[in-house]
Amino acid sequence: VAAATEAAARAGSLEELAAAQAAFELCELKKGARNFVFADGNPEARVMILGEAPGRDEDMEGRPFVGRAGQLLDRMFAAIGLARTAHHADEALYITNVMPWRPPQNRDPDPAEIAMMLPFVKRHVELVNPDILVLMGNTPCAAALGKRGILRLRGSWTEAFGRPAMPMTHPAYLLRTPAAKREAWADLLDIKARLGELS
Ligand code: URA
Repeated sequence: VAAATEAAARAGSLEELAAAQAAFELCELKKGARNFVFADGNPEARVMILGEAPGRDEDMEGRPFVGRAGQLLDRMFAAIGLARTAHHADEALYITNVMPWRPPQNRDPDPAEIAMMLPFVKRHVELVNPDILVLMGNTPCAAALGKRGILRLRGSWTEAFGRPAMPMTHPAYLLRTPAAKREAWADLLDIKARLGELS
């Protein structure tokens, strides 16, 4: 973890951070992954989404949230006027994951793997400097809050990396449990309202 902390701290820009993380050799997941998946969207965005880890589609493409869950994520945020392709910061999204490499068989990353990537995640958030962070699922809650239990955590504002953070259920969960979409919609409206208050 000390090596990760040092490498992350030296990065003065997102480009440097991506290069430092891609070159980091102490994460075992790197060996089994096809691609390094850093981020997507507009780094000027006021809202930054922190997901879990690349799945099969993301590992193939080298971009986060491009599979079915990612398509649902795009539709969810489009409903409150936010898109990763938007140029204006008020309408933009920036998307990354705790883990930049796909875990084998899409297993959850373990606590040691999360701890190793945490310095990179922290620096990533500092460099993007969003107004609001969305913690999408259990892995980002474990990383940023040291807590699990997304079904209890979702819907309540918390603080992560020194800024307002909203835990939400992961779109992959929503695909399996459509009844939970109602709560996710409430969380999206809450994010929209908070953005209005903060601007
Ligand atoms: N799930 C995630 O958490 N992140 C991705 O990039 C894709 C699926």
